[in-house]
Parts: sequence; C-alpha cells; structure tokens
Amino acid sequence: SNRALIDPHGRVLEYLRLSVTDRCDLRCSYCIPKGFKGFEEPKHWLTFDEIERLIGAFARLGLRRVRLTGGEPLLRKNVDQLAKRLSSLPGIEDLSLSTNGTQLSNVAGQLAAAGVNRINVSLDSLDKGCVETVAGRNVLEQVMDGLFAAKAAGIAPIKINMVVMKGVNDHEVDQMADFCLVNGFVLRFIEAMPMGETGQNTEFVSLQPIRERLVERLHLQPCHTELGGGPARYWQTADGNGQIGFITPLSQHFCATCNRVRLSVDGTLYLCLGQEFKYEFRPLLRSGATDAELEAAIIEAIALKPAKHDFVEQPKKILRFMSQTGG
Ligand code: GTP
Ligand code: 5AD
Ligand code: SF4
Repeated sequence: SNRALIDPHGRVLEYLRLSVTDRCDLRCSYCIPKGFKGFEEPKHWLTFDEIERLIGAFARLGLRRVRLTGGEPLLRKNVDQLAKRLSSLPGIEDLSLSTNGTQLSNVAGQLAAAGVNRINVSLDSLDKGCVETVAGRNVLEQVMDGLFAAKAAGIAPIKINMVVMKGVNDHEVDQMADFCLVNGFVLRFIEAMPMGETGQNTEFVSLQPIRERLVERLHLQPCHTELGGGPARYWQTADGNGQIGFITPLSQHFCATCNRVRLSVDGTLYLCLGQEFKYEFRPLLRSGATDAELEAAIIEAIALKPAKHDFVEQPKKILRFMSQTGG
C-alpha cells in the first residue's frame, strides 16, 4: 500500500535524507570539529546496490522525495550514477542534493542529466576571510563557480544555506539577501543547532528579529509556492520573483509538520535530527532479508519516530555530529 509511512503522531513521511559519505573537504565550525577522527569504516558503507534496494522498498511504501547529503555528497565516487538509479525508481518524484559547492562546477551538468532537480548549497559569507574562518579553507571562488555552473545547467531552484552566527556573519545578512535576489538564488537563513560538541559552541542567533527587519526593508510577503519539502518558511518580494526562507529549529520549531527521516552511510536510519532514536538496516541488507522483510522493518522503524526534537530543553544530549546525518 502506498501511504504506509505514517508515524505514531499521524505525520506522513515522504522524504528521506540520504547521507552518501560522512567525509568532507571542509570543517565548518558548527558541523565537524578540526581533527575529527570518528569517521565510519568504508566497509560499513552501504553499496549503491544496497542503497537502491532499500530506497526502492521505502518508495513502495510511499516515499516520494530523496535528498543526497553527506558529509559532502560529491566526494562519494560516481555519485551521479547513484543519482540516476534513485531518480529512476518508481515513486521517486523529487531527487535533490545538499552540497558545500566546492566540487559542483565540475559535475553540475552530469547531476542534472542524472535527474537531480534541485540543489542546496552551503555558503555562510561573501567574504573570503570569513569563509575561511568558518569552513577552514577559503573556498569562496570554487563555490561561486559551482553556483553559476548549476544555474547554467538549468537546475532550479538553487538555494543558498547561511547558518547565522553571532559576531561571525550576522552583519552580512543584508548583503547576502541582496546578492541572492540579484542572482536568482533562494537564500535561507538557518539557526545553528547544538549538534555534537562543535555545535554547542556556536552562539545561537534567533532569526525572528532578522526576519522582521528584512520583511520591512524588502517589502516581503508570505510565500505559499512550494519550494521544497523541508522546514523553511518562505517570504517573497512584491513582484514574486525573489524568495527568502527562514529555518528556525530553536525559535519556532516545525516538528509538527515533519515529513522526514535520515539514512546515514552505514545504513542507520535516524528518526529525528535532534533525538537518538534509530534503526539499523545494514545487518538486514547483509543477511539476505527478503523485500517483504525489508518493508516490515521499515514500518517497525517508522514507529520509533518521536514527536519533536529536544534542542531547547536538553541541548547537550545529541553527541552525534551534523556530518553523520547531513543536517
Ligand atoms: P528542501 O526544503 O527540500 O529544499 O530541503 P531542506 O531545506 O530541508 O534541506 P537542506 O539540506 O538544505 O537543509 C537546510 C537546513 O534545514 C539544515 O540546517 C538542516 O539540518 C535543516 N533541517 C532539515 N530538515 C530538518 C528537520 O527535520 N529538523 C531540523 N531540526 N532541521 C532540519
Ligand atoms: N545547525 C544548523 N545547520 C547546520 N548545517 C550543518 N550543521 C548545522 C548546525 N549545527 C547546515 C549546513 C548545510 C545544511 C545541510 O545543514 O549549512 O547547508
Ligand atoms: Fe562539511 Fe557540510 Fe559540515 Fe560544512 S556543513 S563541514 S560542508 S558537512
């Protein structure tokens, strides 16, 4: 049946975030600490065959959207071939990618051809020095090339993710908004979540006053056009040509409408970003489970999804790094 993915809180789960590697060529301060060594053993990584089989089972139960994440997903060898296989699965209508953009200019065309219809790119600043401070390397130019290559490849919408950090990039809010509006990128501001030990050090900035100020300066109106399947709330310019989104896990959480689960590279399904509930699929995939057994396991896993995250009440609880589940 194909609306089987309903959780105990009545939410329809139609969106899976698939981490295809936990490695990354950057070290964004809120995501992976410098010198982090806890990477997954490559022999634990699901193969493309295993991924395709598991996502196929989800799709038979009603999954419609898959987002490729990491670490940095473009570091997984031949990821465009995986994209092709996933976008061809019956039921999958939306295949998207979240990337840091450093490798994007080389592969944007291939990704579009493989069925990746939407791309989100992390970019926290337009200042070289600030990019280097946050990400550990000055990659501004590569990321810019990647953004414009994706645009030239016809991928739309292209969104830019900016995690707003006090004293680091919060003075660039207006400049980023203007850059994105001029170039046709959808900017989303994000509140930093306390994930792992690194996330705990990022000083949280509420987006509420930032949004009020931007709405007034740019005469923004609420936007009801669907721009994705995630938690952002969007506003648009009066002519309807520019959109800006706000992702506010702390100041105004969106758990009541959550439609997502996360699969890490080792085959662990995480039921919530801000909780530890999980289900291991690797043992099943590697012990000859039948399709019917896989589907039954998915239903069992979905039953573990909690109502909401605990970032505000118990901020130190989540020790897992953002890079393990790709946000
Ligand atoms: P689309 O709306 O489909 O474009 O995807 P998205 O915005 O959900 O994807 P992206 O990978 O760009 O994530 C943007 C931010 O939203 C990241 O900081 C994610 O961690 C965060 N996010 C996405 N889903 C959830 C969620 O279920 N809970 C929380 N707390 N944060 C989420
Ligand atoms: N809090 C909020 N967003 C984060 N991201 C990574 N770590 C965090 C965090 N601790 C964002 C990145 C990327 C997206 C997938 O997740 O900016 O764009
Ligand atoms: Fe890498 Fe993305 Fe984390 Fe930055 S946010 S360190 S690009 S996984």
